[in-house]
Amino acid sequence: MEKTNPEKLIHQKRFFYFITPLGLERVVQLEIEEKLLLIKADYKIHEISPGGIELSATVADILQLIPYFRGVTRILMRLGNEASLNLYKTTVRDLPKLFQKVSKFHWNDYLNGDVPEYVISAKSSRLFDSRKIEKSFSDGILRHFQMRPPKAIYLKRKDQLPKTTLYVRFQDDMMTVSLDLCGERLDRRKEKLMTTDAPIRESIAHNMLRILGKHLETNKSYRLLDPFLGSGTILKEAIHFDDWLSVRANEHRFPFETFPILEKDYIDYQKTEIFNERQILLGNKKSLALTHFLGFDIDELALKAARLNLEGEIKTGIKIQLKKQDLFELKTLEDNTFPTIVVTNPPYGERLLKDIPNDFLKQTIEKLEQLGCEILVLVSLKEQTKKISKNVVERISFSNGGLDVECIVIKK
Ligand SMILES: C[S@@+](CC[C@H](N)C(=O)[O-])C[C@H]1O[C@@H](n2cnc3c(N)ncnc32)[C@H](O)[C@@H]1O
Repeated sequence: MEKTNPEKLIHQKRFFYFITPLGLERVVQLEIEEKLLLIKADYKIHEISPGGIELSATVADILQLIPYFRGVTRILMRLGNEASLNLYKTTVRDLPKLFQKVSKFHWNDYLNGDVPEYVISAKSSRLFDSRKIEKSFSDGILRHFQMRPPKAIYLKRKDQLPKTTLYVRFQDDMMTVSLDLCGERLDRRKEKLMTTDAPIRESIAHNMLRILGKHLETNKSYRLLDPFLGSGTILKEAIHFDDWLSVRANEHRFPFETFPILEKDYIDYQKTEIFNERQILLGNKKSLALTHFLGFDIDELALKAARLNLEGEIKTGIKIQLKKQDLFELKTLEDNTFPTIVVTNPPYGERLLKDIPNDFLKQTIEKLEQLGCEILVLVSLKEQTKKISKNVVERISFSNGGLDVECIVIKK
């Protein structure tokens, strides 16, 4: 085992904040803990609050896992642990004090000689004007650069790098400052070539599949059906359930890779045995026993999008069947060698519901049960799902782009 140097940030324990889809925190927690346990990381969950999970772990563990998180929206690292320079859970009530604290922080560790972008929020605090807070931050950071000028190599490259984003939060005068580690949101996979009306967000699709995972038997193989395929998001996420975000990771666009304090050490860490052992563990993980994939859509254009989005997977020989089909016209499912389970988001939302009957969800469930599907995981508007109670074994309410929706699991 390689030696770790406790002086180096990469080997230190820090606080991280995982931003999750609102309402799905406990489902995302399953993914986070599964992956941390898989690499035998030493971690502690400190708080689960609406929209996020705070935990502590070593920096190396989290950085290695970032490209693998699929149900998470974004990951932040809390800044500061030395009392005098603390930017984590510190009381600040006025702008001069804010400027003073900010100017003392070691910005050259994280920034390449430039001020960052900001996401500022304030609740029940004396400091609440985000423009003034932002100005104090930028002034403080520039002051710090005057006192400790950034190295020429960082200044030289600063314009080529995407800006770092700082998350600043005030709650009851308590300030917490965090750095974004992800750049683009993790749920923007950049893998789909064509989209359709109302696609489901990839991280939500992943979390629906994770909810399904709790209800599958480990010694069985299943066929996954999405009868309202759309652009194929759910099938694609199911096929790549355990994979890392290859497009993102290959482009090397994660901001932490250019933090001066981490970049060299992270490259060195990637050469270690432990890093490689963990990559193998992560690469071999297979959590869902889905072997066949089936998708229907009534709409030719949706089918075209799904075919294009799943072209790569079809070419590699994965058993995927996509068919233009009105679910309600189907008499039987061909080939029942494997039990069929369903994960889907039926048409919902004001725009889509205009042309469909009020009991569409109930009809969908009856049809799928009649076709012999064993487990159904459905996301729809809460006002629709609350009418369903028969055989419902789990319900999780969450917000999908501001809409009140619910994921229900139905088991015969
Ligand atoms: C909300 S969208 C699904 C979006 C999909 N999950 C995605 O991410 O792209 C619902 C889909 O159901 C399809 N649909 C509506 N009624 C249908 C029916 N009776 N049979 C099959 N598909 C239907 C629509 O054409 C639409 O593509």
